This record gives sequence, C-alpha cells and structure tokens, in this order.
Amino acid sequence: MNACDLLRQQGITARLEDLENLDFTQNFAASNFWYPLAESLHVVAVAFLVGAMIFLDLRLIGFYRSQNPVRGASRVLPLAWAGFVVAVVTGCLLFAPQASRYVCNPAFQTKFALMLAAGINMLVFHFGIWKSVGRWNDGEPTPIAAKASGVLSALFWIGVVYYGRLVPFLA
Ligand code: HEM
Repeated sequence: MNACDLLRQQGITARLEDLENLDFTQNFAASNFWYPLAESLHVVAVAFLVGAMIFLDLRLIGFYRSQNPVRGASRVLPLAWAGFVVAVVTGCLLFAPQASRYVCNPAFQTKFALMLAAGINMLVFHFGIWKSVGRWNDGEPTPIAAKASGVLSALFWIGVVYYGRLVPFLA
C-alpha cells in the first residue's frame, strides 16, 4: 500500500475533495488574477527563503570568511522567515484546488520530505554546532560539522525547488 492509498483509506482524500469543492477554492482557481498572483508570490517568497538559506550555507561551508556569521545570520534570517511564511500561505492556496491529486504526486511528496529534512537539519545545527560559533567567528575555518550541515542544507533546499518545479510534469 502506498501513501496515496493510505490517505484514501483514512478518509483524508475525501476531506481534501471537500476543500477542492469549496466556493472559495473554485473561485480562486478560476481567477485569472488571484491564482497567478499567488503563484508569483510563491516564487518570490521561495527566492527569499532559499536565497537566504544558501547564503548562510555558503558561510558555513567556508566562503565569505571575513563576514561574521552571527551578524550575517541576524541580517538574513528575518528575510528567510518572512519568505517561509509567505511560501506556506501561498503554497496552501495553490494546493487547495487540486489537493487530492497533489498528495498522490511523487514530486509533491518528495518536496515535502525534503522540506522536513531541511527543517531537521536546521534544528540539529541550531541546537548543536551553532553553540560553538564563538570559536569560529572571525576568519577562522569553520568546523567540519558546520561544513557538512551547510552542504546538506543547500542540497535539501535546491531539492525542494527542483521537486516543486517537477510537480506539474508528473501530474
Ligand atoms: C517553504 C518552502 C517551499 C519551496 C522552496 C517551494 C518551492 C516551489 C517551487 C519552486 C514551485 C514551482 C513554481 C513554478 O515554477 O511555478 C512550487 C510550486 C508549488 N508549491 Fe511550493 N514551495 C514551498 C512551500 C510550499 C508549501 C508549504 C506548499 C503547500 C502546502 C506548496 C505548494 C505548492 C504548489 C501547490 C505548487 C504548484 C505546483 C504546480 O505547478 O502544479 N509549496 N513550490
């Protein structure tokens, strides 16, 4: 049994079809203004989020060593969070009109698995490696664990963008 069958068995697919059939969802999907606007904002938000994350990842990997990572993080993280919130809101709007199809789309499923992996990697980094940032602050080479975390994070976020783009090809 795959994830799609499981969702159908649990009655979740039926709930998603209810979401698709709401007047709000149908009007939104039929709009030549609101739907493309949500799509555009989704892409801009993703650019802020992924751009900020990759900038930080490059610092962790060892580029821009003259830049203080604490100051850099405090500058770009608010942009990343703002991008994340707008990406989630617009993503939910784009999701609603074809919700029951998206959950069965392997690219959509992979995108979410990679988002989860990026989130876990961030938590591990924040509560682990980041605590030693004082020792590799200014100009020092970053520890191997920070480099590994930066490489993983960049790969996960690029993967989220790749699988986000792949979704309509597998529909
Ligand atoms: C937060 C990180 C996210 C990233 C990096 C991301 C990335 C992307 C990308 C690159 C696209 C393709 C845009 C295009 O070329 O038109 C896309 C489309 C889409 N995203 Fe996201 N997304 C994110 C979050 C979400 C969330 C939380 C949802 C839903 C709950 C979502 C739902 C969608 C949907 C439904 C589409 C349209 C797919 C289609 O073309 O049929 N996204 N996303």
